[in-house]
Amino acid sequence: MKVKVSRKAHFNAAHRLYRPEWDEAKNSAVFGKCNNPNYHGHNYDLVVSVYGEVDKDTGFVMDMKILKALIKEKIEDALDHKNLNVEVPEFKHLNPTAENIAVVIWNKLRPDIDASKDLEVVLYETPRNFVTYNGK
Ligand code: NI
Repeated sequence: MKVKVSRKAHFNAAHRLYRPEWDEAKNSAVFGKCNNPNYHGHNYDLVVSVYGEVDKDTGFVMDMKILKALIKEKIEDALDHKNLNVEVPEFKHLNPTAENIAVVIWNKLRPDIDASKDLEVVLYETPRNFVTYNGK
C-alpha cells in the first residue's frame, strides 16, 4: 500500500531574473518585473511530498518530524530572507526562476529521502503561479 505524505513550508526571498549576455530591452521583454535590477521579493510556499510504502510497524511512509527538520535545515535555513542571486551559491550562474528553485530544492532534499520513496516538490512563487518537480 503506497501513500503520498506532504509537508508545507514557507520562505521569503529576493531575486532578479536576467541574462547578462542579453541587452536591457530583451531582459525586460522576457523577464518583466522580475528583471528589476534592484531585486524584489516573493513569499514562496513550498509543498514537499514523499510517496512510498506505508511501514508495517510505524504506519508511516516517512516520519514527519524528520521531514520537517530536513526542510528547515536544508531549505528554510538556506533560502529564507536571502537574496537568491547574491547569497545562494546554486544561483550564482543559474537564473532563480520558480522552475530552477524547485529543482535546486529537490536536489538538496533527495539524498536524505529513502531511495525507495519518490520525492516531489511543488513551489508557489505567487498564490496563482506554481511549479512541480519530481526528478523526471
Ligand atoms: Ni520575481
